[in-house]
Amino acid sequence: MGTALPPRTVTNAELAGQLDTSDAWIRSRTGIGERRVVDPGTATSDLAVEAGERALKSAGAAGSGGSSGGSSGGSGGSGGSGGADAVIVATTTPDRRCPATAPLVAARLGLGTAPAFDLAAVCTGFLYGLAAAAGLIAAGTAGRVLVVGADTFSTLLDPADRSTRAIFGDGAGAVVLRAGDPAEPGALGPLDLGSDGTGSELITVPSGGSRDPLPGPDHDPYFRMTGKAVFRSAVERMSGSARSVLDRTGWDAPDLLVAHQANLRILHAVADRLGIARDRCAVNIDRVGNTAAASLPLALADAAGSGSLRPGDRVLLTAFGGGLTWGACTLVWPALEAL
Ligand code: COA
Repeated sequence: MGTALPPRTVTNAELAGQLDTSDAWIRSRTGIGERRVVDPGTATSDLAVEAGERALKSAGAAGSGGSSGGSSGGSGGSGGSGGADAVIVATTTPDRRCPATAPLVAARLGLGTAPAFDLAAVCTGFLYGLAAAAGLIAAGTAGRVLVVGADTFSTLLDPADRSTRAIFGDGAGAVVLRAGDPAEPGALGPLDLGSDGTGSELITVPSGGSRDPLPGPDHDPYFRMTGKAVFRSAVERMSGSARSVLDRTGWDAPDLLVAHQANLRILHAVADRLGIARDRCAVNIDRVGNTAAASLPLALADAAGSGSLRPGDRVLLTAFGGGLTWGACTLVWPALEAL
């Protein structure tokens, strides 16, 4: 596992100097104190490559385990021990609309001609990416898959929109998933995914797609979110999805709930509904905000780094995002160093 955060911190006080908001409002309504933001010229792939490099190094240090290279021999990439032979980049903020960001990330990581594609499930992207990677491994297409959740939402926000600028931050997190024994720590347990496109207007970038191409008058190129409805749906969907995988795993409760860092009040509401003590809830939103597809791996790495997540702990992952999309998964935390 590896992570990357841009060096620049934007505090609530800095936002309050630009917008009609305050540190007290943002902290009390969201739990966010500061977030990281890329400087102009830094793209999503730059963060993805940094996180990916660290994940590959971390995976190499942990030993290759399982097979390296797809059993179908499909990729021919340079993903030897410590490498990867497929790359998935979950993102809503690709470097460009075309082509996908993942092939560029694979090339910059020296992964040769490994298959590489982007995955669009907004803040649920990392969980969808884990599911897709597990599928590639099960199908024999790849032996080791680099799954990156990377977003630079700061490049998509309306500078005048206090409700989104207060919430989102930039970052990336990556893991290397490999074939192995389902009973091993780190093996994905039951995975639940869902979507509801009737809610697609709640989290949206109205213009710039085929429905309303740019440029032109009356277009809105910025990210828009209907906060209250999203809040309610996030609580309902994450707790429902999480409950279903807990039941399928046969756990009453996990040792740690690692939920998408959307809003501290959402995290607490999900924990409450699941009967999980709030202090068993991973929290890094105070320092990084909502980092979209990077949220889960950043929260996992933060928890592992602070010692609140230890090898052998039972972990419950859950996320929710635009689409609408959601999902959950259980796993037992493996012995690894998040770099
Ligand atoms: N500072 C000050 N006031 C703000 C503000 C900010 N940063 N952001 C919104 N407000 C204002 C609103 O404009 C509104 O003002 P009005 O009543 O004059 O219209 C008021 O606060 C209440 O807005 P509301 O949206 O009802 O507040 P809220 O308590 O629901 O909090 C969010 C707003 C965005 C923090 C909250 O809805 C939320 O977190 N939603 C989920 C977001 C999320 O998780 N998104 C990602 C999903 S992947």
